[in-house]
Amino acid sequence: MSRIVRFHEVGGPDVLRLEEVETPPPGPGEVRLAVKALGLNRAEAAFRSGRYLEQPVLPSRLGYEAAGIVQDVGEGVSGFAPGDVVSVVPPVGLGKYGMYGEVATVPAQFVVKHPPSLSFVDAAATWMQYVTAYGALIEIAAVTKGDAVLITAASSSVGLAAIQIANLVGAIPIAATRTSAKRDALLAAGAAHVVATAEEDLAARVRAITGGTGARVVFDPIGGPGVEVLAHATAREGIIFQYGALSPDPTPFPRVALGNAIAMRGYIYSEITTDPRRLEAAKRFIVDGLASGALHPIVAKTFPLEAIADAHRYLESNQQVGKIVVTV
Ligand SMILES: NC(=O)c1ccc[n+]([C@@H]2O[C@H](COP(=O)([O-])OP(=O)(O)OC[C@H]3O[C@@H](n4cnc5c(N)ncnc54)[C@H](OP(=O)(O)O)[C@@H]3O)[C@@H](O)[C@H]2O)c1
Repeated sequence: MSRIVRFHEVGGPDVLRLEEVETPPPGPGEVRLAVKALGLNRAEAAFRSGRYLEQPVLPSRLGYEAAGIVQDVGEGVSGFAPGDVVSVVPPVGLGKYGMYGEVATVPAQFVVKHPPSLSFVDAAATWMQYVTAYGALIEIAAVTKGDAVLITAASSSVGLAAIQIANLVGAIPIAATRTSAKRDALLAAGAAHVVATAEEDLAARVRAITGGTGARVVFDPIGGPGVEVLAHATAREGIIFQYGALSPDPTPFPRVALGNAIAMRGYIYSEITTDPRRLEAAKRFIVDGLASGALHPIVAKTFPLEAIADAHRYLESNQQVGKIVVTV
C-alpha cells in the first residue's frame, strides 16, 4: 500500500484526497519509482475540475511528471535498475499513470536518467515545460538566431522554458504578462523585453521592438479574442502556436492572419513524446541545455504532499513565476 492522491468527484482543490492504495508491481516494459518530487501543471487543475481535453474515470489519479528512485522494473526493461535516480517525461493520459503519490509506475520510454547535478525538485520541474517549448520552437518552428519570439503567459513554467530556449539559440524572447507585477522577475528570467498586456498596446510594442516586422513566432497558451492582437504582432508568414486554452472564450481566426499569410497552429507536447525520434532529440537538447546551465528550471514554490490542495490553490491563484513542485 502507498499514499496516492486521488479524487472521487470533479471540483475545486478540496476534492484531492491522500489515500492508501494498493500499488501492483510494474508490468512488462514498465518502471516503478519511489516519487521524491512531482511537478504541477495547469492541465491537472483543469482535469481535476472536469474542464480538460480528456475526462477523468473516477476515482482518478492525476499527474504528469515526477522525479524519484527506481524501485522495480518490469519484464523486458533494460537500462534501468533499482536505485537509479530518474525523472519522468509526461506520458499521454493525465489520469492513467498518476504521478501524485509516493509511488508511480510508467512505461520505460518515458523514464530518463537526468544529470546527477539536478535535484529531485528541479528534475520534477523539467520535462513538461522544456519538451513543450522545445517541440514548438525548435522542432517545428526552427527558431534561430535573431528571430523575435513572442511568449504569452510568460511567467508560466512553459513560458519561462520558452524564454530560456529562445536565448539558448540566440533568438529574442519578448515576454507578455497581464500586469507589470511580474516584469522584473521576467527580465531576471531572461526576457529581452516585457509587455504588460493590460497596461500597454501589445501589437504596437512588438512592432516597435522588431523594427516594424512583428514576431516570427508567437507561443500562446491563452487563446480567445486576444489572438486578434497577437496576429497584429506577428510577422508576415509567421506562425502562432495555440497550445492552451487559459481564456474561457472561443478563439477566432484573425482576418489579418489571412492577409499576412500567418499560420495559426494547434500544438501539443505529445506530438514530440509519442514519436521516438523526436523524443530522443528532445531529451538530448534538454539534457545538454541542463548540463551547460543554459536551461535551469525556475521553481516558484514547493509544498509537501500532504498540502496538495494548497498547492493547487496556489497554482490557480496565478501568483507564481515558474513551476510549483510538491515534495514527497
Ligand atoms: N499543449 C501542450 O502540450 C501543453 C503542455 C504544457 C502546458 N500547456 C498549457 O500551457 C499553459 C501554461 O501551463 P503551466 O502549467 O506552465 O501554467 P502555470 O505555471 O500555471 O502559469 C499560468 C500563467 O498563465 C497566466 N494566466 C493564467 N490565466 C490566464 C488567463 N485567463 N488569461 C491570460 N493569462 C493567464 C498567468 O500569468 P500572468 O498573471 O503573468 O499573466 C499565470 O501565472 C496552460 O494553458 C497549459 O494547459 C500546454
